[in-house]
Amino acid sequence: MSAVIEEATRIARQFEYSPEEVQRGVKEYIREVEEGLSEEGTTLSQIPTFVTSVPNGTEKGLYLAVDLGGTNFRVCSIDLHGNHTFSLTQSKIMIPREMMTSGSAKELFLFLARQIESFLRIHHNEHFEAHLKRKIAGTAREEDLFDLGFTFSFPVRQLGINKGTLIRWTKGFDIPDAVGQDVCALLQEAIDELNLPVRVAALVNDTVGTLMARSYTSPGETGTFLGAIFGTGTNGAYVEKLNKITKMAKIEHSDYDKSTGEMIINAEWGSFDNHLSVLPTTEYDRQLDADSNNPGIQMFEKRVSGMFLGEILRLVLLDLHKSQGLFKPASGSDVFIPESSSLYRQWGIDTSLLSIVEADKSKDLEQVKSALKDHLKVERASENDCKAVQTVVHAIGKRAARLAAVPIAATLISTGKLKEELVDIGVDGSLVEFYPNFEGYLREAMREVPEVGEAGDKKVRIGISKDGSGVGAALIALVASKEGAKPQL
Ligand code: BGC
Repeated sequence: MSAVIEEATRIARQFEYSPEEVQRGVKEYIREVEEGLSEEGTTLSQIPTFVTSVPNGTEKGLYLAVDLGGTNFRVCSIDLHGNHTFSLTQSKIMIPREMMTSGSAKELFLFLARQIESFLRIHHNEHFEAHLKRKIAGTAREEDLFDLGFTFSFPVRQLGINKGTLIRWTKGFDIPDAVGQDVCALLQEAIDELNLPVRVAALVNDTVGTLMARSYTSPGETGTFLGAIFGTGTNGAYVEKLNKITKMAKIEHSDYDKSTGEMIINAEWGSFDNHLSVLPTTEYDRQLDADSNNPGIQMFEKRVSGMFLGEILRLVLLDLHKSQGLFKPASGSDVFIPESSSLYRQWGIDTSLLSIVEADKSKDLEQVKSALKDHLKVERASENDCKAVQTVVHAIGKRAARLAAVPIAATLISTGKLKEELVDIGVDGSLVEFYPNFEGYLREAMREVPEVGEAGDKKVRIGISKDGSGVGAALIALVASKEGAKPQL
């Protein structure tokens, strides 16, 4: 075996995550669930969302939704047809990197409101103009406002269906003056500054949106139990019994409907085990965390989600490059990497590279070779180099998928959900959608948890829930508008 493959295999072993570790992870997760439901400021936030029922597919109406949560900002209008189907019109814009880290909260929210304005001008101009005319004439009416669901996929201390203060930024965002502020009020202020006919009716985490969207569209009678994202970041939301959320008594909040006896909880599982009592840790995980803008936080997310897997891979490849001459010219060959290669840039590797590398089952690894060229500007990588890269990618991706089983299995166990015939789970995000066999590895690890076992395979239905952040937000805006919630400024 060549030295580079041997070393890659040795490193890959460090990423193995055994069945015993999965089981220990599940136990610790269940402990943190209990803690998070009874106290504030815990590692697993277990945030009450004030959404107390899931849709059944008969909901109707036209709603706006916006989504801030990763690389893009999306604005959409959603027409819920009331028969499990909907139509969606959307526009998407990349958030300028400077805006994510060096702007002020005001700049960011004005930028978002401007995108809503141009969306309305393009797709709902008549309504917009009519509103402006009425506003000038002093005859503007509440009922002419669009209700908007605001998908804001960061940890928020939610105080009501459309009120919540930012706890901390994740996924590379860092705008300090927004922390502690009510993000719905910030958005409403910016919207009002531009005179838009829009009321921010609901604050929605993308996982809650995913859960709601899946429940609206999913076949059969079973309401969805859990919504999970495995994309740039990772997180999950699930239906909890109200009487188990004992910290509700301790937190300041507005009124909500208690008739269902349930509430959706946003777990914020990206921060599971921040104290690293059970999470597997390699030297690469340590280095990634130390170089990140939030060391010690989102430790689960840093081992599982798309934004970080590429960076773990980059650190391993750099190591192999230095120690074993990976991608270095052997005598007589001209493999080289230019300085501008994203191999040398923090966060330079996108998860899509991992998905392509993992998917290549050919003997000569042609796709790996061309992906290395496209993504890292590595010219003519050798077959051994390609094999080494694939070995490492496989190990990083498989560990992520097996880790992903931990919060899902633990939530199924802690809620007693496995006693039921069928449990429906909606998932979204680039990893679960595009990383080959992500669900397969996840299910394999779930089977290794004795309380889930083989039976889990039949009981647990996992389905991709596309556009959760749009449709789900619209559904929550619908519930909120019926309750008459208005943002308090
Ligand atoms: C955020 C969550 C979000 C998840 C998926 C995490 O970084 O903290 O609120 O749900 O990413 O987008």
